[in-house]
Amino acid sequence: MTKPDTPISGKSIVLVGLMGAGKTSVGRRLAQNLDMPFIDADEEIAKAAGCSIGDIFEIYGETAFRDGERRVIMRLLDGEPRVLATGGGAFMDSSIRSRIGKRGITVWLRVGLDTLVRRTRRRNDRPLLKGGSPRDILERLMAERYPIYAEANIVIDPKKNESPEKTARRVIRALESLPQEARP
Ligand code: S3P
Repeated sequence: MTKPDTPISGKSIVLVGLMGAGKTSVGRRLAQNLDMPFIDADEEIAKAAGCSIGDIFEIYGETAFRDGERRVIMRLLDGEPRVLATGGGAFMDSSIRSRIGKRGITVWLRVGLDTLVRRTRRRNDRPLLKGGSPRDILERLMAERYPIYAEANIVIDPKKNESPEKTARRVIRALESLPQEARP
């Protein structure tokens, strides 16, 4: 695929959405197609802490995780433009949201509940899903977070079983057709 002429003018592309939405896998394809570096915020947080996200939650608690998440994402947004996959809770933080608003273009991957449940079942390392029925928890998070995710510049509704490559292409088309006045 030829490198598209995306209207992103030095900004990062920030993927948001719930756990299992495909932020990391779509983000990687997107970065390849746009010839931009890719970074996964959760991986950076784990690297900075020297332990897994699960261990951060267990040993230090969610508040400490959120503080680390904020620090790491702020640092990443101040760096070179890249494709950044964020953890599902990051965009709920108003200071992260406001920095993303200045430094990035947000893409919300809006995926249905059944798909989220099916995908999150494959991994057992998401601390927020351990406290009860993952379906109930994801449903509650949808109600809490979707109104905030809706502030994203671009909303993508991947089709059921759509490949990350196909979704990435859909994101690129949406970037290309952002109206001039809507471009951050
Ligand atoms: C979280 C999502 C996770 C990770 C942490 C908290 C959330 O990332 O940041 O477990 O609050 O939704 P993914 O969305 O990449 O699974």
